Amino acid sequence: MKKTLLGGLMMAVAMLSGFTTMAQNKLVINADQGKTQISRHIYGHFSEHLGRCIYGGIWVGPDSEIENINGYRTDVFEALKALDIPNLRWPGGCFADEYHWTDGIGPRSERPKMINTHWGGVTEDNSFGTHEFFGFVEMLDTEPYITGNVGSGSVEEMSKWVEYINFDGVSPMADLRKKNGREEPWQIKYWGVGNESWGCGGNMTPEYYANEYRRYATFARDYPGAKLYKIAGGANSTDYNWTEVLMQKIPLHMMDAMSLHYYTIPGNWRDKGSSTDFDKEEYLTTLQKAAFMDQLLTNHETRMDKYDPNKRVKLIVDEWGTWYDVEPNTNPGFLYQQNTLRDAFVAAITLNIFNQHADRVHMANLAQTVNVLQALILTEDEKMLLTPTYHVFDLYKPHMDATLLPSYLTSDKVKAGDTEMDALNVSSSLSDDGTVNISIANVDPENAIDLEVFLHGTDAKEVTGRYLTAPALNSHNSFDDNDVVSIEAFDDFKWNKDVLDVKVPAKSVIVLRVK
Ligand code: AHR
Repeated sequence: MKKTLLGGLMMAVAMLSGFTTMAQNKLVINADQGKTQISRHIYGHFSEHLGRCIYGGIWVGPDSEIENINGYRTDVFEALKALDIPNLRWPGGCFADEYHWTDGIGPRSERPKMINTHWGGVTEDNSFGTHEFFGFVEMLDTEPYITGNVGSGSVEEMSKWVEYINFDGVSPMADLRKKNGREEPWQIKYWGVGNESWGCGGNMTPEYYANEYRRYATFARDYPGAKLYKIAGGANSTDYNWTEVLMQKIPLHMMDAMSLHYYTIPGNWRDKGSSTDFDKEEYLTTLQKAAFMDQLLTNHETRMDKYDPNKRVKLIVDEWGTWYDVEPNTNPGFLYQQNTLRDAFVAAITLNIFNQHADRVHMANLAQTVNVLQALILTEDEKMLLTPTYHVFDLYKPHMDATLLPSYLTSDKVKAGDTEMDALNVSSSLSDDGTVNISIANVDPENAIDLEVFLHGTDAKEVTGRYLTAPALNSHNSFDDNDVVSIEAFDDFKWNKDVLDVKVPAKSVIVLRVK
């Protein structure tokens, strides 16, 4: 967590004002010193043509026996609607750089079939295309984020897709859109220029990609009422050179943001580890790797600050989350994995970190929405379940568009084998109505923690709480029992004069709201 000078000063003030016998676990929040808005887009999502994310997860087609609204699964739609998701990224991922958008328009029965070479070599029948994607985001009332094809596409192809989607007038692409049943343009904003161009998107060098970006971005036109927010394909994890070169070689006025991908893998790429079968040390190693996001962002931000001290170019972590070995007896190309209380902590820690970096991080997209990697939702035929990760996004909703509050935390440590980390992880924000939102994760599997919260700069006193815990670190929901890990009301706190004493249960995520 960023430990600010201000935070240190606040802690000193707290000590001088009588708290000389400091307990270990203290949180100081100054509610009148927030400056930065936490963009709601930090709570964004990602849906790729991969495994059963789109087909079976979101889209079953209008003729399916599974309950659907015009082809979209009703249960999945309702769950995402309830979460108020701010955006949805599509169509990939690696798939984006082999996707030719014209294959996915016009009558579904006439659309060409292709091989999804990245993901299991299965047949892609293109029945979910541009119109189907926008139909879904319109139902959800969420912002679309499209990633265009740089790797195997052309400048002309991308330029025409933008015209098809955004131009309101007479033109070949606008006319084609109208012929396909959509009169009004969708007028979208978020546009990614390629995906992982250092890898599956074309194995380019940063210098080569920077030049390609300049060409593609030039012809991805702004149309009246539809100015694009252009996102350059950013670094893989700790490839700081990629960030440095893009900042140097791309004129800053040509990009609004650059992306960053970072996955939390307990083991290594060959032997990633099981989603449900892990010991305490592997659990803590996973969380420590998730917590590395803080340092990772700082390191990329330092490079960006050199060229853009005013932080105009934003960071978009458009792929993050856990990546384990696939579940036994499932297609290795489908990246289907279970999701336990451990994943809830990865989400809680990561979202706290994004909140703390809100001055540079404008958007983030969990990989992925349904049935892939750290999913919000899993489905099996007509059944579906909400994962612990879904519940963390639900708990953290109050942070969306709220103002980040500077905070300073001291925490007990938790240790297993060679791995040691802070047991507590927090972030706090101020909503427009004056409510202070405090999200607290206690990753210690055994010990509850007595936390003293010093809340300055507000008269708010009325506290409500919700929390997530479960019997075991690997507890998860199943298609037969969706309530093993679910949100409950939390009230184990009390005011002691001006200090809020909170008993944070072992292995729990809490969100307190102080009004
Ligand atoms: O999310 C799965 C894959 O991970 C994406 O397609 C790719 O961009 C990344 O390597």
